[in-house]
Amino acid sequence: MKRIAVLTSGGDAPGMNAAIRSIVRKGIFEGFEVYGIRYGFAGLVAGDIRRLDINDVSDKVGRGGTFLYSARYPEFAEEEGQEKGIAQLKKFGIEGLVVIGGDGSYKGAVALTKKGFPTIGIPGTIDNDIAGTEFTIGFDTAINTVLESLDRLRDTATSHVRTFIVEVMGRNAGDIALWTGIGSGAEQIIIPEHKFDIKKIIEEIEAGRKRGKKHTIIVLAEGVMGGHDFAKLLWDQEENFHTRVSVLGHIQRGGAPTARDRVIASLMGAKAIELLKQDIGGVCVGLKEDKIIYADIVETLNGPKHKPMLDLYQLNREISY
Ligand code: F6P
Repeated sequence: MKRIAVLTSGGDAPGMNAAIRSIVRKGIFEGFEVYGIRYGFAGLVAGDIRRLDINDVSDKVGRGGTFLYSARYPEFAEEEGQEKGIAQLKKFGIEGLVVIGGDGSYKGAVALTKKGFPTIGIPGTIDNDIAGTEFTIGFDTAINTVLESLDRLRDTATSHVRTFIVEVMGRNAGDIALWTGIGSGAEQIIIPEHKFDIKKIIEEIEAGRKRGKKHTIIVLAEGVMGGHDFAKLLWDQEENFHTRVSVLGHIQRGGAPTARDRVIASLMGAKAIELLKQDIGGVCVGLKEDKIIYADIVETLNGPKHKPMLDLYQLNREISY
């Protein structure tokens, strides 16, 4: 294998640039020609492919987003899109591909793998919801961004004795809510992986108020429901909580990656190159017990789904009330 390519796909995540940089630099170091595909699978099908040099990744390690751009491209689930993608790869003489992205991107990587094209998946998403890894690139930065907002919201909540419902991202996973809820001392964490009881929540808020508590922070994972809908539930039952809703939105996806995201991205990128050097494709890279690992991507996607650390949920009930 001489010529390889990299693309980023799905929602961008801080640290994607660090992963691309690692792939390009380590790839060139190992004797590969490295190509960048812009706009994810959409760019692959369109042939938006160009060679990347050492200088193309200068000054990128600390930048948020992805300089290769990204796209959501459901058309790649269809046979026709996949065939066109493979034809483009062949046209450019590319023999191996690294896909950095989330769940949907992994499905694209699996499709190429099943068609016999050596493809490697690297988990890049703020949601931390990918099988085969304990942590995804971008999660650490996103939770630190959310934490900063939660700390700020707590200040104003306390001043006005208010209840804040803070809707955070995560798609169907509660990881962002769990980690930031614990980190900010939120009174309630509401996640898709655990049922909530609105009556109990109200009782707990009231108990806190009686004890003299001045603020209530409810961190709500978007996978449960929207923040405004949750506020209606609370409002229907109790009007005296002075409830406000804050939907953090895409601010959670931007910004300079944390040191941890830069490092795991660099390690994962380098691992992908080592694997391609050994002609290994059809795998996904992950982080488990502080080690960079890899596993068959088809088996990983068909295997057990990612689960958040539910111990954190219980811990929060014991230490934040
Ligand atoms: O997967 C990352 C993510 O930010 C999710 O947390 C969120 O549900 C979704 O992407 C938002 O997608 P879009 O940027 O397409 O609106």
